Amino acid sequence: MNVKIDNQPLTLINADLTIEFITPALLESHELNALLTQAGFKADQEQLCALHEHRRLLCGVSEFTNEYLRSAMSTAVKAVMNYTYSSVKLSPNAQDHFKALIEGVILGSYQFNSYKSTSKELTLKEVIFSIDDLEGVSLNIDKLTSILEESLIVAKATNFVRDLVNQTPYDMTPQGMAVTAESLADSNDLECTILDVNGLEHEKMHAMLSVGRASINPPRLIHLSYKPANPKKVITLVGKGLTYDSGGLSLKAATSMVTMKMDKAGGCAVMGIIKAVSELKLDIEVHAFVGAVENMIGGNAYKPDDVLRAKNGKTIEVRNTDAEGRLVLADILGYAQENIKADYIFDYATLTGACMVALGPYTTGVMGHNEELKQSWLTASQNAGEYSGILPFNRHLKKLIKSDLADVSNVSSKPYGGAITAALFLDNFIDEDMKEKWIHFDIAGSAYTESPWDVNGYGGTGAGVRMTLEWLLKLQQQGHN
Ligand code: BES
Ligand code: ZN
Ligand code: ZN
Repeated sequence: MNVKIDNQPLTLINADLTIEFITPALLESHELNALLTQAGFKADQEQLCALHEHRRLLCGVSEFTNEYLRSAMSTAVKAVMNYTYSSVKLSPNAQDHFKALIEGVILGSYQFNSYKSTSKELTLKEVIFSIDDLEGVSLNIDKLTSILEESLIVAKATNFVRDLVNQTPYDMTPQGMAVTAESLADSNDLECTILDVNGLEHEKMHAMLSVGRASINPPRLIHLSYKPANPKKVITLVGKGLTYDSGGLSLKAATSMVTMKMDKAGGCAVMGIIKAVSELKLDIEVHAFVGAVENMIGGNAYKPDDVLRAKNGKTIEVRNTDAEGRLVLADILGYAQENIKADYIFDYATLTGACMVALGPYTTGVMGHNEELKQSWLTASQNAGEYSGILPFNRHLKKLIKSDLADVSNVSSKPYGGAITAALFLDNFIDEDMKEKWIHFDIAGSAYTESPWDVNGYGGTGAGVRMTLEWLLKLQQQGHN
């Protein structure tokens, strides 16, 4: 679908349908108030009223905020996709709302039909924005154009991540992730290094190797880099890429195993982020590391009671093979820090069911030692339209992952605070000089959904992409001050 700006007021643009957002407060003074009231339209958030004979679609929003507009736009575009119009037009509302509306269009119109034997061809081809705001005042076309370009990159990168996450474990194996990374590197002029089992053995990444040992799809370490000429900062991103998490010998219950193809969402997110960073041509060097592994059962599976030595030399007592993501991340974090001296290191992982218990299924858990840095992420995620919340560390929780046998245990001795104890486990693999520069994002709840919410339909959501690009764009601006 083509999204464009027409350098004219709304009334002069030719299109099959006009979309209008309206708040309950504005409904009373609306020219069609009588008709709309008769139709039972109250301008409630996401409520639609299609007046086909007028070629108008009215969409209710609680208030004119980015959050409400983004979500309503995605609901509206979904509705329009069921009609047979080929073009729609609307006002960008206000310059500050334009990005949210574009995201609503691209994220709301996302469809994943790879596994359907038939799919209907879309008649909607064009979404056209006028240059006049709600008051009819012309906005700056150059500014709108640059917002459009940036927003399309961000939203399309989010959909790229959704596409990867939605693929089955049969289609998207660790090697499949590696091939995807290589083709991304080709198309976006990135460097790409892949370590296979031999490479991982050579690097002494035995935690990650153990997790993947029982699978017929061997693990891969993916390293993508974007290196602009004069980078202002260097950022390392690390993603958990479990292409399937059966739980291993600590096998998951049948109902909990369904959806575990999404356990690669962190790895997919860092690939989407570096894709967008290269298209936005940021002056920030970015390294994306993915631990692509399949956690399976078999005669040679790693076991509860095993002790593993991670890349940084620390030993880990395995008490539950389903707490595998942290083992993979332990090695990847070690490898990333050894190879790249970064200003910040951020990891993304569908790490714990406990994060969903703590924050609900929509919110990303933000953990780390640096309070100011965590706050900057809350701001970025809010501005980007993602939900996030800080889960605080404390010294007592740290004691829960002590091991009598090895340096650390891979599970907590108590059943509460599991998202935080998982992060405190990862802390063992963060070098002393990086402690204040590290943030862990638990996207277990936010990365995947089976019931649509906000701009997300069924499947992968692309969690982490928009908020990280928002944070990086802010960093880039600061670098220019
Ligand atoms: N991939 C799961 C976490 C998960 C659960 C993500 C549900 C998304 C939805 C992770 O590997 C896992 O199994 N974690 C265990 C840890 C436990 C054994 C300490 C969990 O959360 O139950
Ligand atoms: Zn698991
Ligand atoms: Zn997992």
